[in-house]
Amino acid sequence: MAPFVVTIDGPAASGKSTVARLLAMRIQGQYLDTGAMYRTIAWAAIKAGVDLQDTQSLIALIDRTRFDFVPGPDRMEVYVDGQQVTDQIRDPELTNLVRFVADCRPVRDRLVQMQRQFAQGVARLVTEGRDQGTVAFPEAPAKFYLVADPRERARRRQHQLRQTGIECPLEEIEKAIRERDKIDQERQKGGLRPAPNAVIVDTTGLSAEQVVDLMASLLHQAFGITIASANRADDEGLAG
Ligand code: DC
Repeated sequence: MAPFVVTIDGPAASGKSTVARLLAMRIQGQYLDTGAMYRTIAWAAIKAGVDLQDTQSLIALIDRTRFDFVPGPDRMEVYVDGQQVTDQIRDPELTNLVRFVADCRPVRDRLVQMQRQFAQGVARLVTEGRDQGTVAFPEAPAKFYLVADPRERARRRQHQLRQTGIECPLEEIEKAIRERDKIDQERQKGGLRPAPNAVIVDTTGLSAEQVVDLMASLLHQAFGITIASANRADDEGLAG
């Protein structure tokens, strides 16, 4: 049977990763963090000394490397040829470089293929990124697009960085977020935009559970999906 796919797209730090993971739990499905996939390819390319703007070399790298994407209880664990690199792909320097990988159309095509394959293995999928509702799963029955005020997104990102011991001024983070929005929006293929039938959710001032409650109740009303009760101990800030 075809999987039931829920797509969540939106800009950096709009809360997609946290919300996708919690919503997947509530609908007893699986989640996919597609940003982590782009990051993992970038990490592998840098490690192998591959020029991020050299399409042929990037594709050759993808072909000769084994990538595993394993959704865990807290975040998606990623592996390159068996080596776990889940922490490494969050490095701020890599965050600045990953856009070159995301700009490469043949790489996007490969990743979209992998995302569709992943969906075939599960009954229900909540997948988040920039192009999930527009390119990867245009036929998905349920699509959401998260937005949030850039200053609040910067605050969330600052909080997240602090947890990993990195201190960074708010203004600097906000500037970087606005720049990433621009790059994501201007990308020709797979650019950041809501699918025409996506429900826009403004997460400014909301907790992760509030956003998830809202989405879950929409899914219940529209598709009759059974919603598991929330584990309130999970309530957490919105970051990714
Ligand atoms: O959401 P994130 O910050 O982990 O995304 C990392 C990069 O990948 C960012 O440059 C946007 C890009 N991306 C994309 O182009 N398409 C997706 N579906 C997901 C992420």
